[in-house]
Amino acid sequence: MFKSSLQKVPRIEDLALITRRRVPKITLGYLESGTGEEVALRRNREALDRVLLVPHYLKSVGARSTQTRLFGRTYDLPIGISPVGLANAIWPGIDKMLAEAARNANVPYGLSTVGTTRLETISEIAPEHLWFQLYVAQKDEVTFDLLQRAHQAGVDVLLVTVDVPISSKRVRDIRNGFQLPLRPSPTMALDLALHPAWLFASARAGMPRFETLEKYGPPGAGAPSLAAYVADHITDQLGPDLMRRIRDAWPGKLVIKGIMSVGAAEEAAEIGADGIVVSNHGGRQFDAAPAAIEVLPEIAAAVGARLSVMMDSGVRSGEDVLRAVSLGAEFVFSGRSFVYGAAAAGPAGAAHALQIFKDDILRGMAQLGITDLTQMRPSRIEDAATCTSEQKGLQAGS
Ligand code: GLV
Repeated sequence: MFKSSLQKVPRIEDLALITRRRVPKITLGYLESGTGEEVALRRNREALDRVLLVPHYLKSVGARSTQTRLFGRTYDLPIGISPVGLANAIWPGIDKMLAEAARNANVPYGLSTVGTTRLETISEIAPEHLWFQLYVAQKDEVTFDLLQRAHQAGVDVLLVTVDVPISSKRVRDIRNGFQLPLRPSPTMALDLALHPAWLFASARAGMPRFETLEKYGPPGAGAPSLAAYVADHITDQLGPDLMRRIRDAWPGKLVIKGIMSVGAAEEAAEIGADGIVVSNHGGRQFDAAPAAIEVLPEIAAAVGARLSVMMDSGVRSGEDVLRAVSLGAEFVFSGRSFVYGAAAAGPAGAAHALQIFKDDILRGMAQLGITDLTQMRPSRIEDAATCTSEQKGLQAGS
């Protein structure tokens, strides 16, 4: 897609629509699916929509800034790129495109342990903006070697994901037979053949692999799917003792990702974490979980004075970022939004996704009568029980 035509792509959802045309069903399913019936996935969206930001006019709003301080440095936006596993299977080269876009826009980029580009390669692209996401391994030597490598690569912020004690049931992946290398059934072969640009780019780039993990040898590097990798390699023993050992070994900032309760947030503070990401992993781990935005206010109230509280899960617009900030998030993340950008239109699409967020945030700030995000006021949460969908329709149309 030409750069100029991106001007006619105003929403993340429009990038998603393009991605859905360009990417085969099998890898798209991996990106978009939630767990189980996908109730938690939908709930993230519905709960965000219920957060109402009340406009405030009669203010001078000419000089608005989206700059946000976090961990002693200034980012240009309050949103960063969440780690996404297996991203290069969705479109070849996505990890690099996202790292570049993050560097250029001065926002953090989280590289997943199960990312498809080596940690050391990404650190050369975005040395100042790379955060490393750690899945704690069954073998300590793998975990602590990853920490050492991340430190040597210049990473300052470590994101330890704690919401994958076991693999979750991803129904679309099971049905589609998503594994690497892809083993085409007749239906899958047709799916791939109907996406020639993807097929051509993928054939040139070669099969995506868990590159950061390759040095630990088979079967880790050769795990055929995320589920298999989780089952064989990620620990189900991640208690406070192991987290403390990680804290002691990691010289930089430690952020625990996947916190959904005040109790776990308190434990994160006791362990000595510097921050948490309130997250239900984009609805991908536990279908009965609340939306991240629903638990954010109580968690931020409990630990916000001691920890940097961040949030991801379902964020698709600048309004969503403002919603999260209004409920106590110091910083916000999204994974799929940026993958949609890059898969739809390459590096320009990744940059465009960040620009969409920036424009929305600046517009929203003008409506809210603020020039700086620290001036954000608490929002109202619509009571789902008292607001029927008819009423919602009326409000939306007004
Ligand atoms: C990877 O972390 C995933 O949720 O698929």
